[in-house]
Amino acid sequence: MTDSLIRGRLLSFKRAPLAMTDTDSYLYEHDGALLVSGGRITATGDYAQVKAQATADVEEIDHRPHLILPGLIDTHVHFPQMQVIASYAGNLLEWLNTYTFPEECRFVESDHATRIATHFYDEFLRHGTTTAVAYCSVHKTSADAFFAEAMKRNMCMVGGKVMMDRNAPQGLLDTAEMGYDETRAVIAEWHGKGRNHVAITPRFAITSTPGQMKAAEALAQEFPDLFIQTHLSENHDEIKYTAELYPEATDYTDIYARYGLLGKKTLLGHAIHLSEREADALSEAGSIAVHCPTSNLFLGSGLFPLKALRRREKPVRVSVATDIGGGSSYSMLKTMDEAYKIQQLLGERLNPLESYYLMTRGNAEALGMEADIGTLDIGSMADLVILDAGSTPAMRLRMETVKTLPEELFLLQTMGDDRAVVETYVAGKAMKTGLGGDEMQTG
Ligand code: GUN
Ligand code: ZN
Repeated sequence: MTDSLIRGRLLSFKRAPLAMTDTDSYLYEHDGALLVSGGRITATGDYAQVKAQATADVEEIDHRPHLILPGLIDTHVHFPQMQVIASYAGNLLEWLNTYTFPEECRFVESDHATRIATHFYDEFLRHGTTTAVAYCSVHKTSADAFFAEAMKRNMCMVGGKVMMDRNAPQGLLDTAEMGYDETRAVIAEWHGKGRNHVAITPRFAITSTPGQMKAAEALAQEFPDLFIQTHLSENHDEIKYTAELYPEATDYTDIYARYGLLGKKTLLGHAIHLSEREADALSEAGSIAVHCPTSNLFLGSGLFPLKALRRREKPVRVSVATDIGGGSSYSMLKTMDEAYKIQQLLGERLNPLESYYLMTRGNAEALGMEADIGTLDIGSMADLVILDAGSTPAMRLRMETVKTLPEELFLLQTMGDDRAVVETYVAGKAMKTGLGGDEMQTG
């Protein structure tokens, strides 16, 4: 493969920005370029200087005046819920029982799982997302389809076969033993293949018996390097029912702690209604509270105190995510737009630099993957998104009055969606062009 020189306005974060004026927290290169060789970034910075390091046969791609950012990262999605999005429900448990569980039953069929996997990756690439952390269904077939398609596209993906052995339709239940055996099989077949990472995935305490939680604990002990993902404190009725099912636990967080599931590689979806004790416990464990703003608003679950959790004396690590299909958009831009509004309602300010940090380097740090993804640093994989803040007539008009980079980023976040994504690169390869959106079956 020949090297490529990708030219545009580079933006990459070095650390979390402390304020809108914190220009040291990021690198911005107005006429910048990335040299990409073997899928990785081998030079970065000023165009003329980077070009000087390229060979004569380098393929040059000019994205000026657009922005080049690291590919966006989504830390909580449900692969089998593409046909659940926009389901009309009053709350989480009604939504799960009425729409989500019946839909996930279909993933026992590998043809169905394979078809949806194609659309899943098409949709993420269309929205500029190059890495996602996903729940598959309870069926091993769904994890097989998920990881096979990720490998075809050379994408860095984290996923897990969901473990669930109660409180759901029969077609969606495993047993403690099956959950253990099939998760082991998924690890053996997929973990470390291509850019795949397997996560141990007990869905949440309501759908796992104590016996299955023990099986998850055994997996966590046998495979300490694996991610663990589950849901925590999303909805008040959920929290109440969970307490009834695990009366011996101090609180919801304590259930996962008792089964050895809280560690630095644990991602806890939602985690909205935490007590101070629970926030301390997450902080001490180094576990990550995953903010899913569009979902939390759509299902009426609550307002996640992102800023308050981060600035505690014992800060809680956070990441951001769409939570498709409780979430209502595949776009991380839209996700951060909703995250911003939630902070507004809580009397807090989430500035645009923080938003772009969170969906790139911040999420990569939450996954401990910042050496590979989430930045434009030398040595990083060339997973990139090209963004155009003037992608619609209304945005172009507003751009006429935009004077600073933070203003431009804020406009992109507030009005942007998949139309703002000019191109998405995975390991240096342009992936968005030619996606088969028109081939979608409508019947
Ligand atoms: N809690 C348990 N399962 C789910 C799910 O699929 N979506 C959401 N939003 N919450 C959950
Ligand atoms: Zn979820």
